[in-house]
Amino acid sequence: MSRFSSLLALVMVAVLAGCGRPEFSDAEKQTIASLALSRLPPLKPDTTNRFADVPAAAALGSTLFFDTGMSGGGTVSCSTCHKIDRQFQDDLPQAVGVGRTNRRTMPLAGVAHDPWFFWDGRRDSLWAQALTPLENPLEQAGNRAAFTHYIKARFGERYERIFGPLPDLSGVPANASPLGTDAERAAWNAMPGAQAEEVNRVFANIGKAIAAFERSIAPPQTRFDRFALDLAAGAEPKGDAAFSSEEILGLKLFIGKANCVTCHNGPRFTDVSFHNTVVPPV
Ligand code: HEC
Ligand code: HEC
Repeated sequence: MSRFSSLLALVMVAVLAGCGRPEFSDAEKQTIASLALSRLPPLKPDTTNRFADVPAAAALGSTLFFDTGMSGGGTVSCSTCHKIDRQFQDDLPQAVGVGRTNRRTMPLAGVAHDPWFFWDGRRDSLWAQALTPLENPLEQAGNRAAFTHYIKARFGERYERIFGPLPDLSGVPANASPLGTDAERAAWNAMPGAQAEEVNRVFANIGKAIAAFERSIAPPQTRFDRFALDLAAGAEPKGDAAFSSEEILGLKLFIGKANCVTCHNGPRFTDVSFHNTVVPPV
């Protein structure tokens, strides 16, 4: 090592030691506080679902969420991918149901706060979202006529106490759906309109019960939330809330130069008072 470079090394050690832990500016502290779970507003009423806050609907929805009977082959439920002990996701790069999908399972903690659903936001109500995996051939691979028969046979009484009388299903084919296989679509098209309407109503109510359950899936407090709370209170974050220098520098980037916070701007995209230019409030 030359004399010059050893001197440089000494200077660098001295500079790094003198730096200590990186600090946040007041503006950064304000942004961090805005990202804390405690800033999550109370759940708004779901104006698309009359049963959203009916406890019996949520209870039935919870049964259906975990029931593998709610699939074509009887092997997959919502909870196959949305696992209760992993914030309702599965740690896989791509979700696997009846087949392998091309997307990652989204966590459901706090999902009822979202204005729209799926990675691409292609559903705008929680109950309509729930119907999609039920008929997706790679996920639950069922069809609405089969689900309607299943609900009547298995949960008829519980269903009727919430949603009123089930229709007469004697003329409804075992398998039929406007989105299914060729045979299922042909069976669906052959059904009288009023009968298709009745099946659609039961299918929609399945979604509404599941959505009522999903309103109860609250996000747990994380290390980040404890860190943000301590920081907002002017206290030195302690225990697992104490961030390492790398974590602090990463957070500075996240809310600063790297612009992540433009989109990832609060618990479930809801704190729109800061930064939010890409995902507008609804
Ligand atoms: C095969 C695995 C799998 C099954 C089964 C499954 N999901 Fe999902 N879920 C996913 C994947 C993957 C996504 C993202 C898919 C996309 O964006 O196209 C997702 C997205 C969602 C979302 C959107 C979350 C958000 O923040 O936008 C909700 C809500 C949801 N699922 C609920 C359900 C319900 C309810 C069921 C059962 C009726 C279910 N899922 C069944 C894998 C699954
Ligand atoms: C323009 C908006 C936008 C910006 C800026 C942005 N993200 Fe994202 N990010 C998204 C969206 C939308 C998704 C989910 C959709 C997808 O995967 O295509 C996502 C997904 C993610 C995921 C995956 C989450 C999961 O559960 O699989 C991570 C991690 C992530 N972003 C981190 C970051 C980081 C770190 C930055 C800054 C360097 C950043 N994002 C900047 C919009 C954004």
